[in-house]
Amino acid sequence: MNVLVLHGPNLNLLGEREPEVYGRMTLAQLNGKLKAHARARKVVLRIRQSNHEGELVDLLHAHRRWADGIVFNPGAYTHYSYALRDAVAAIRVPTIEVHLSDVRKRERFRRVSVIAPVCAGRRLGRGARSYLDAIDDLIARE
Ligand code: DQA
Repeated sequence: MNVLVLHGPNLNLLGEREPEVYGRMTLAQLNGKLKAHARARKVVLRIRQSNHEGELVDLLHAHRRWADGIVFNPGAYTHYSYALRDAVAAIRVPTIEVHLSDVRKRERFRRVSVIAPVCAGRRLGRGARSYLDAIDDLIARE
């Protein structure tokens, strides 16, 4: 099974970015956990990060025939990017929306996800565990 993990804007600064919200784990450390988790389950992982909406659209398109599932943390784009929503809907690859923090318990604008309605599921509020659970959700769907 091939899974694309896509990290959106500002996730490259994980570890130094608002550690009281997102913790001290760096993106490299998070990716290391994801790789180990995937390897143990014979899942082939590709991991990409971009701060740019159009580049995230391009990455979704580029992986549409390769990926059997996608784990997507769209960052702040979650709350307003119809372009990313349309891209997820267009490629028809099961996609799980993930968040490190619990966006339901933060500022009001974070309670809205324009991506969620086109996703196969959602994992949030559990740090790295949100991503690991999302990989397991995709495996369970196979
Ligand atoms: C986030 C939550 C978003 O609201 C925020 O803009 C992020 C990170 C999370 O993983 O908790 O950049 O997606």
